[in-house]
Amino acid sequence: MNAPLSAPADLLRLRDHLSSICAPLDEARHLPGDVYSSKEIFALEKEKIFRKHWLCVARVEELSKVGDYLTIRIVGEPVVVAREAEGDAGFAVFRNQCTHRGVEVAFGEGNAKQFQCPYHAWTFDIGGRLLGAPLMKESKVDLTKCDLPRLQFAVWRGWIFATLDPNPQPFADYIGQYEKYLWWYPTDKCKLAMKKVIHVGANWKFLVENLLDFYHASTVHKSTFGKQYKLGNKPLPAHCEKNGAFFLEWDASMRPTDPKLGFFSSLPWLQDRAVTATRGFLFPNMQMSAIDSLRMWSMWPVSETQTDVVGYFILPEESFRAQDFASQVKKFDAFSETFLAEDKVALESLQVMANSDSFKGGPLSRYEIGIHHLLNHYVDVITS
Ligand code: FES
Ligand SMILES: [Fe+2]
Repeated sequence: MNAPLSAPADLLRLRDHLSSICAPLDEARHLPGDVYSSKEIFALEKEKIFRKHWLCVARVEELSKVGDYLTIRIVGEPVVVAREAEGDAGFAVFRNQCTHRGVEVAFGEGNAKQFQCPYHAWTFDIGGRLLGAPLMKESKVDLTKCDLPRLQFAVWRGWIFATLDPNPQPFADYIGQYEKYLWWYPTDKCKLAMKKVIHVGANWKFLVENLLDFYHASTVHKSTFGKQYKLGNKPLPAHCEKNGAFFLEWDASMRPTDPKLGFFSSLPWLQDRAVTATRGFLFPNMQMSAIDSLRMWSMWPVSETQTDVVGYFILPEESFRAQDFASQVKKFDAFSETFLAEDKVALESLQVMANSDSFKGGPLSRYEIGIHHLLNHYVDVITS
């Protein structure tokens, strides 16, 4: 695709271009490579997905004290997440764009009483309200209307969600559709043990798909956890929901008692259950799992060929009291570096394919049901 995509006829043409994935799973074929490299399709994804949806931007523990803040970019749009008061209502999420000329006023993360724009020194409080604008006394513009624009946010199970859309779907409706499958994910009773950010030279959809791909584990991860994936030849017990959500509970034989793979104690609510591993996906970019820790990965597009992946590793509070907790986390960190490096090689090779015209998508395995489901919803969203 190389023409702008906005008119209904363009979207119909795009739908036709993507139709190979819309057949039933056993007849479908993977999407063509340009879906992962086209600037026009990336622009459409920004408009229809990342500027519209609720997105998870932080854990509450990252902002535990008044004045704590962190900065992120949502498809290039700079945003601050800050705590200005105690409690879940005490957060503020606002655009990190000075209301004078748009320069970013906050950088990285930390604790602050106020932000000062580095260009002409306008100052803003921790909630983004304008405090002062030097040498502006003669201006007839109402400076009380120059606060940093706020974004809507919501807190769910210890996660802070926000949206760039000023008129979004109500958050309760968005999250409500996932709740019934998430009994295994009580992250409000847990704490963040480790957060990682990894940069991958591949389109964001490749990363989301990879986390839903049960087909690659025994090859790509054969030297780490691949052998533990006992998939057999049975269909995956997957729940595929209309909104693109995907849930799975299964016995992955990855019990925390395995000395090679068990880094932490069993999760109390998974003990004595046949289920030892669970996986959930919230459209568009949030993937969660529970094995011996709760893990959440969020995929943030930087460009059509570059993605930042943020990984959160969360544990019940009692795990933090284990004597060797610090060394357990260190070991798990090293292990995660290894398996992420395994994925990165495959993902960056997929991007090489996506940049060429020569490859036509092949058929899908039954273990790619999550990818099939995700992409069918994706096609509906971007061509609607
Ligand atoms: S751009 Fe911020 S004060 Fe001028
Ligand atoms: Fe993987």
